[in-house]
Amino acid sequence: MCGIIGYCGHRPAVPVIVEGLRRLEYRGYDSAGVAFLQGKDLVTVKAEGKLANLENKLAAQNVYQATSGVGHTRWATHGLPTEKNAHPHLDASRAIALVHNGIIENYQDLKKELVAAGVRCVSETDTEILAQLIGFYLKEEGSLAEAISRALSRVEGSYAIVVVSRENPGMLYAARKHSPLVMGVGVGENFLASDIPAFLPYTREVVFLDDGEMARIDAGSWQVMDAATLEPIAKEVRHIAWDVSAAQKGGYKHFMLKEIFEQPRVIADCLAGRVDRNSGRVILPELEAAEVPERLFIVACGTSYHAGLWGMYLMEQWAGIPTRVEIASELRYRDPILGPGDTVLAISQSGETADTLAGIHLAKARGARVIGLCNVVGSSVAREADLVVHTQAGPEISVASTKAMCSQLALLTLMALAFGQRKGVLPEDAAKNCVPGLEHLPAALDAALPGMRQRARELCRVYAEARSFLYLGRGLCFPLALEGALKLKEISYIHAEGYAAGEMKHGPIALIDPKFPTFALAPIDSLYPKVKSNLQEVQARGGKIIALTQPGGDLDVDHPWETPAAWGPLASFMLLPALQLFAYEMADYLGKDVDQPRNLAKSVTVE
Ligand code: F6R
Repeated sequence: MCGIIGYCGHRPAVPVIVEGLRRLEYRGYDSAGVAFLQGKDLVTVKAEGKLANLENKLAAQNVYQATSGVGHTRWATHGLPTEKNAHPHLDASRAIALVHNGIIENYQDLKKELVAAGVRCVSETDTEILAQLIGFYLKEEGSLAEAISRALSRVEGSYAIVVVSRENPGMLYAARKHSPLVMGVGVGENFLASDIPAFLPYTREVVFLDDGEMARIDAGSWQVMDAATLEPIAKEVRHIAWDVSAAQKGGYKHFMLKEIFEQPRVIADCLAGRVDRNSGRVILPELEAAEVPERLFIVACGTSYHAGLWGMYLMEQWAGIPTRVEIASELRYRDPILGPGDTVLAISQSGETADTLAGIHLAKARGARVIGLCNVVGSSVAREADLVVHTQAGPEISVASTKAMCSQLALLTLMALAFGQRKGVLPEDAAKNCVPGLEHLPAALDAALPGMRQRARELCRVYAEARSFLYLGRGLCFPLALEGALKLKEISYIHAEGYAAGEMKHGPIALIDPKFPTFALAPIDSLYPKVKSNLQEVQARGGKIIALTQPGGDLDVDHPWETPAAWGPLASFMLLPALQLFAYEMADYLGKDVDQPRNLAKSVTVE
């Protein structure tokens, strides 16, 4: 997830672009860059780190001549957040510069082709390959539009791109597939951006581009066409009433809600380039050279710990790997039986959590191998681990983690599949159904989310007076129960406890009364009958029940809540957003500060 902007107009372009990037910094902030024409030359200026570093570099140059150009703020997915990997990327003959948001899945294959044809690539990014491909075809095609169209026909994956070129001064081309791109229509100026806030101070007239479309803008005109045929497409200009803050949240009231609704996209991005649709095999190049772990210690905190617990079930069941899951703050002060031959999987969204890092240090000191699973490229976990797999969820702004956990579950699923395949122990059912099931998830979840939100809204009004909740689940739903309880307490400040449903009768059942509701997870799996009988125990004590379930269930509880069917363990990807939405709606209904709950920080860098 990156922020991109393009400008053609009557103002100096670079200041407009940099200001636009500032309003897009929530989309990514590990490096930034701009490209514009200076005389007949395409110039790029890039800097590692925050936008201020780019501004310092630009201050030393004369950038006020150009009235068109492109800019980018990066959230790294391929390659470290270095200046070399920052956008815009040029083709070898410096004829075009390109900014990109998305993932080019087949970039390695395309790179091989280009290198064989004599093209010299300079970065580690997938984006550069697209820039090189367009530049390569530009030499053969009559026009830039044709070269872009031909290059895009070769690309698998997702993209929103904006291209500036030497031969077409004052003009930009753009295209999109599965990544956001909007056009801002001004007076004597036009904009392209990944998000509306980039140009909101200049215009509120917007054209939303759709997948498969290409756009061309200059200062006084714009045009949308089919990216494959270059046939013109008529588009409607829409007026946007949002302010900048609402626009940054994509029109959602809070970042948390926006991030919950991003989860279908997050799952699709986690899969991008990592599954071979024909053979069903999982491709995780980051782990290719590593041996399958003999014993696995998963180390994490909070929501990431819950993801780890969830992953343990699949690592054991699908890959036959003995797995322990450790709370990092506990592991660091124990004397664990851990040493050479063991593998530690450190899970962290931020990659900066002090306790998780201490777990990594302990593991390394004892000679264990460390795999990092984290969201922030270049973070401490990513740097200190021996191998790292990135979750590619994009920046998570809300303090309460949502989409990061979804991405962690997706990657843990892929890792368990990959290890099981390599060991030859993957159960047939998983081998046959998991990859198709994963691929079906983004569309199914996307369709389900609005209804889920509505149900969460209704239910939080019924239960808003509860002082305490018990969350119950078995198997994979036990970690989800822990996560549901964590979400509710951290943002709504209602006490909640997650429990293994079978453990309830060993203590917590004493708490049950009509004012102490239970939130149960009861998908239709092999443990369904067991959960059902636990719920009967709750009902026998007068306890009220909300139960997340699936089609075909026969629960007789106060508030059954059906989520869409999904294959086996993948039901978790439907249950998790329902838990998140319930906590979100409750906190919002109670008037709490959803995105910045009291006493909490996004990244816990102290012990
Ligand atoms: C809960 C939450 C925290 C984090 C925990 C670990 O919503 O956000 O529990 O999950 O602090 O953070 P990371 O994953 O960054 O190591």
